Amino acid sequence: MNLLFAATELSPYAKTGGLADVLAALPAALRQRGHSVACVLPLFRSIRETLPELRLTDLILSVPLGAGLQSARIWEGRTDRDVRVFLVEKEEFFDRTYLYGPPTGDYTDNASRFFFFSKIVPLLARHIRPTPQILHLHDWHTGLVPAFVRSERLPFRTAFTIHNLAYQGNFWGLDFPLTNLPTAYFSPAGIEFHQHINCLKAAIVFADRLTTVSPRYAEEIQTPEFGCGLSDVLRERRYKLSGILNGADYSRWDPGRDPVLPAPYSASNPAAKQLSKDRLAKQVGWEPFQAPLFCVISRLTEQKGIPLVLDAAGELQKEGGRLVVLGEGDPGLEERVRDLARSFPESVAAQIGFDEAFAHLLMAGSDFLLMPSLFEPCGLTQLYALRYGTLPIARETGGLADTIVPWDAATGLGTGFLFRAPTANSFSEAVRKAKAVYQDPSSLQAMRREAMRQEFSWEQSAESYEEIYRRLIE
Ligand code: ADP
Ligand code: GLC
Repeated sequence: MNLLFAATELSPYAKTGGLADVLAALPAALRQRGHSVACVLPLFRSIRETLPELRLTDLILSVPLGAGLQSARIWEGRTDRDVRVFLVEKEEFFDRTYLYGPPTGDYTDNASRFFFFSKIVPLLARHIRPTPQILHLHDWHTGLVPAFVRSERLPFRTAFTIHNLAYQGNFWGLDFPLTNLPTAYFSPAGIEFHQHINCLKAAIVFADRLTTVSPRYAEEIQTPEFGCGLSDVLRERRYKLSGILNGADYSRWDPGRDPVLPAPYSASNPAAKQLSKDRLAKQVGWEPFQAPLFCVISRLTEQKGIPLVLDAAGELQKEGGRLVVLGEGDPGLEERVRDLARSFPESVAAQIGFDEAFAHLLMAGSDFLLMPSLFEPCGLTQLYALRYGTLPIARETGGLADTIVPWDAATGLGTGFLFRAPTANSFSEAVRKAKAVYQDPSSLQAMRREAMRQEFSWEQSAESYEEIYRRLIE
């Protein structure tokens, strides 16, 4: 099959979260299975600076954007997995420090930036060879593509993956002329949502198939609690919605061959995990210690339950427990995390920022990963944690519920600790269970071994997507 992926992130060239990891892995896995796969992204500054051997094609594509005509030059390159990637060059839109906006908020011209990108995608699809049969689109930035394909009756089938329903690309109705769509599209049956343009809703309505990144989340988003206002719209289209679990990229996340670690370790040879813990302690300015070490590796947002971590800080530090937080995001939460580390320098360390190498060391050196997310479409961090024998303590929601086997008091088995109510109390309860297991080395070893043997391969996910594409083409 001929497939074109369109998105705004691709690891390691442009990344703010798990979307980038998916774009790095899924197209490569499909290519391995014999399909012709290409990706298209905006030529963000970070991509220009990091993707090697970019080549300018002779394609110049022009699309209307409101009253004016806007053009883009198209560059071509290959990812480190040897997947073909097209880059849309538009300096005034994409040659910026951030992908979506600075920490204080979104860029004010995001409607123009991503409507433009969404118009270029189907046009590019008509020019590249082999001609794609399927456009596989990801998150709201490409949400208008299915509407453009529909309104222009283009010969492509569209699959749209929701990585996070909370980000919808909402713009006021006055921006509608920027879409250049027929006015009938600005209606409740189309892309309008409460007098606004809603890019995610556009995708839900007009894409041929919808997927999300775990089966549990596919169910959850059809309820008012998780539907972010769109549960009715989704429920009406449940016939075309399903959940496919993400995989973990074990070529990048494997303690047996992770170049960042002081020594490799694995399920059958776990002892060297301790060396990573010692190295980590040194790196954050502590002496080596024998006590449970909890970590957070995350965007610092409400979604990720960071306030719960802050509220449970006392519980975490009891009996010598320590916490290391790596993350960036909401300035208010960043400040609270910094404050906590300043107040308890002996037991809490914080690194505010995005640091891939430190993420690997922290994953390896910690005993437990905290992920008390209010909602979690899939979550990749817990998949990596499992492979590193770092037991997740997570809320029972979305992909967390689908990938973590909760510790069972009767058998002592499981791969992590789940709790249900989004409260500091119920989170603390799970932390206490984890600490009890930590005090019993043979139980801890048994859980770690089970965790490290879990397998979430991209191969499996790629096969499920393949099935979806095949049905669309038929
Ligand atoms: P989300 O996409 O919602 O942020 P995921 O768990 O799917 O959550 O993916 C997060 C990805 O981003 C993981 O690869 C994780 O290691 C990485 N990550 C998050 N925050 C940081 C950070 N501050 N530094 C380095 N990597 C980070
Ligand atoms: C989103 C979700 C996360 C998921 C990732 C990749 O960022 O928040 O749960 O793992 O996309 O699909």
